[in-house]
Amino acid sequence: MTRNEMIYHRKSCRSFTGVPVDAAMIETIKAFSLKPLYPEIKVRWDIVPRNQVKCICPWTTPQLITIYSEETDGWLENVGFLFQQMDLYLQSLGLGVCWLGMGRMNLKTTTEVEGMKFVIMLAFGHPKGDQLRHDLKGFKRKSLEQIADQLDPRLEPARLAPSAVNSQPWYFTHKGNNIHVYCSKKGSRLDVGIALAHLYVANEEAFRFFKAENPPAVAGFSYIGSVTL
Ligand SMILES: Cc1cc2nc3c(=O)[nH]c(=O)nc-3n(C[C@H](O)[C@H](O)[C@H](O)COP(=O)(O)O)c2cc1C
Repeated sequence: MTRNEMIYHRKSCRSFTGVPVDAAMIETIKAFSLKPLYPEIKVRWDIVPRNQVKCICPWTTPQLITIYSEETDGWLENVGFLFQQMDLYLQSLGLGVCWLGMGRMNLKTTTEVEGMKFVIMLAFGHPKGDQLRHDLKGFKRKSLEQIADQLDPRLEPARLAPSAVNSQPWYFTHKGNNIHVYCSKKGSRLDVGIALAHLYVANEEAFRFFKAENPPAVAGFSYIGSVTL
């Protein structure tokens, strides 16, 4: 399946064979290019063995992707945007993936590299059996009505995006051709970056992200940015 098709079938995987991903596939993954939301923000990611991280999940995989970023405006949504592209890519290769907000770097390893802070990790590996969704009923998500001011079918890929504890903190308003994007005040901006990645992968050519001059205010939400699709 393509990355775009994976949007409608993906699922966090928490059951793996435990067989490490082989060196050739690791090289393929490392070569995959990710588009940033903010190209100026420094980000680093590594594929590390399990003993370099600390995670209470018993199912954690033999290899994980650890993500570091410069801490600056937009860094969290940038990380969500970049690595949801990786989530879809890994699943398009037939691998299972799960974001791991609970994961930490092992105390023996570093939580800061070249001025960048550890943000989050992704567990990935060979899934045990078929872990994908086969229809939209498998997604427990808010309705379009709950996440936007208009029933805009172009927002369906964002609606289906994963988020920490399935919180779905995103909201969208429309003005002319622009779709303005918000994060609930208690929500994580990283999750909103994930939803934006789904809009990008579903509209790879047309997707544009920018900060609008006077975006409409939405009570209880912070403005993240705007897109045209
Ligand atoms: C930023 C982020 C952090 C997450 N952290 C964890 C975690 O620590 N442990 C876990 O089991 N799942 C974690 N998840 C997976 C979510 O629970 C899952 O994405 C959500 O419930 C929606 O389900 P789905 O991904 O299968 O569509 C995380 C997801 C995101 C996006």
